[in-house]
Amino acid sequence: MTPSKLHDEHFLVTGAAGFIGSAVATLLLERGARVTGVDNLCATYDVRLKLLRLERLLKRPGFAFRCLDVEDFDALRQIGVPGGGRPYDGIFHLAARAGVRTSTLNPWVYVRTNIIGTLNILELARENGVPHLVVASSSSVYGNGGEGASSESGAADEPLSPYAATKKGAEAICHSYHHLFGLNISLLRYFTVYGPYGRPDMALFRFVHWISTGQPVVIYGDGLQQRDFTYIADIARGTVAAVRLPGFHILNLGSDHPVQVLEAVHKIEAALGKSGRLDFRPAHGADVARTWAEIGKARQLLRWRPETPFDSGIERLTRWYTQHRTALAGLEYASE
Ligand code: UGA
Repeated sequence: MTPSKLHDEHFLVTGAAGFIGSAVATLLLERGARVTGVDNLCATYDVRLKLLRLERLLKRPGFAFRCLDVEDFDALRQIGVPGGGRPYDGIFHLAARAGVRTSTLNPWVYVRTNIIGTLNILELARENGVPHLVVASSSSVYGNGGEGASSESGAADEPLSPYAATKKGAEAICHSYHHLFGLNISLLRYFTVYGPYGRPDMALFRFVHWISTGQPVVIYGDGLQQRDFTYIADIARGTVAAVRLPGFHILNLGSDHPVQVLEAVHKIEAALGKSGRLDFRPAHGADVARTWAEIGKARQLLRWRPETPFDSGIERLTRWYTQHRTALAGLEYASE
């Protein structure tokens, strides 16, 4: 697919200092668009990583940043229209409380950010006539749903965590805004995204750090659970492609290649040339046994396909980590 140029377009990206938000904002800027990024820089995980991502974005022409919380509708309204009076050409709503397991500790904050925050963005789009929204959802909405790959038309009504439940709730309210006000909305169900500048509360980044530094590698359960790990550059490409879609769509963005957690550890060990000391902990009740994306819909509607095999993604992640040791020194890899 030839990537579309986005000259003269101006997008709002929420969660711009986040893992996916910063990658999407970067790609939009590379394609010639202007981006207003917002983020509350909350301390869900080490803020230094968010600042590192932001620092890189701020060096790019066409990027402006506002520190604000999507839960604060009045603050959002102040940036509801970019300079010049023309509405944003689209909103990428990627701000969220994102941890599956930590959502069991403080579910209230997940409801506030993921439900109220999404409602605020929908209202903002409605008030200001923004034509397109792309909203981050999650593979976790499928719960432990069935055999084989999960398709968007299949069941997704038994979430196992408050996090998954809030993502499902956000999907539902998006649909009502599409129905009532004709907003074009694409909801993207991301499958365990990984890569450079990832989240230090997520498995693969932690494993790379723990194996590199000789610390115990915490594995929840027997490590035989599987994830359809998806590389960040593939996710950013699919997300940007979705902004053109008219109507209402739910789309899986995944690798269609589930990998066991223990297998991921072994691949990281091989890439680093070092063995990890495994520290098995009880399985977490909020974790699903397997995720696996059926991606026919994204292939068809977005002309998208994942291009980064797991081995190359791990190779790039470990190389990035090794090259950025100094910048990453002292980072906290919070454990649940
Ligand atoms: C991830 C993201 O954190 C969510 O934001 C996202 O919505 C979700 O993917 C998704 O696919 O929708 P999760 O699959 O839990 O959630 O991602 P990881 O934190 O990378 O965990 C992957 C697996 O590794 C889980 O089975 C987890 O129990 C395990 N794990 C994680 C460990 O064994 N040890 C750790 O230290 C961390």
